[in-house]
Amino acid sequence: MKKIAVLTSGGDAPGMNAAIRAIMRVASRKGVEVYGVYDGYTGLVNGKIEKLKNIDVSEILSRGGTILGSSRLPEFKENQVQMQAINQLKERGIEGLIVIGGDGTYRGALELSQKGICCVGIPGTIDNDINGTDETIGFHTALYNIVDAVNKLRDTSSSHHRCFVIEVMGNNKDSLALYSGIACGSEFIITKNTGYDEDYIIQMMDYYEKQQGKKHAIIIASEKMIDVEKLAERISKETHFSGRSIVLGHIQRGGSPVPQDRILASQMGQYAVELLLNHQSGYCVCKKDNHIIARKIEDALNDVSEIQERMYQLFNELV
Ligand code: F6P
Repeated sequence: MKKIAVLTSGGDAPGMNAAIRAIMRVASRKGVEVYGVYDGYTGLVNGKIEKLKNIDVSEILSRGGTILGSSRLPEFKENQVQMQAINQLKERGIEGLIVIGGDGTYRGALELSQKGICCVGIPGTIDNDINGTDETIGFHTALYNIVDAVNKLRDTSSSHHRCFVIEVMGNNKDSLALYSGIACGSEFIITKNTGYDEDYIIQMMDYYEKQQGKKHAIIIASEKMIDVEKLAERISKETHFSGRSIVLGHIQRGGSPVPQDRILASQMGQYAVELLLNHQSGYCVCKKDNHIIARKIEDALNDVSEIQERMYQLFNELV
């Protein structure tokens, strides 16, 4: 294999640039040309593909976002759209593709590999929603961003005897809420897994305030679960805390990647090049029990996460 391409797709994640850099550095040492596909699958379909030079990846290790740009392209499910993408690669003599993204990106890669394109996935998403890997690139930085924001909210909450209801990202997955709940010592987390009993929360807020003498309280809710503003209003009306709410939003996704994400991305980028050069199409790079391994994309998507259950147990024992 002499020519490979890389794209980033879905929500950008801090550390994607570190992965692009690793792919470029490792591949060019082996005499392989690397092409950057701009704007994810949209750019692949439209032929926004350019040969990368070493200089293109210098000084990007510490930058958030992705130098290649990203997009979401639901139409990539269609056969005709996939064929257009395949033709773009074939016209340029590109024999292998590395995709960096979340579950939607992986499904695209699976389709391409089933159609004969040698394709490998790297998990790049703040959501940590690919069960086959313990960590995805960007998750640790997003977690850091949340903890940093909650630390600040805690300071002002305790000064004003407040309860903050904080919405974090995660799409349909609970990792960001669960891990930040543990890291921030929140009183409650609300995720698909915990469910939502508003009356119970109000009752417990009263208990924390009266019986435990807490000066502030933090509730972290995964996005799409509840209306944080309404819950904060009810807390103000029915408990002695004054309720406030905040949606952290895209702040969570930005910023320079933390070292953990830079290192993970570098390891995964290197491994992805090896997989591709060994023609292991339809595989993705995972981190399991501290080892970088390859798994079939289907298996990585359909796996059940064991860590999550242990983390819920931990949260419940700490609260
Ligand atoms: O997948 C990453 C993510 O940030 C999710 O947590 C969130 O649901 C979604 O992307 C937001 O998408 P957009 O950036 O398109 O608004």
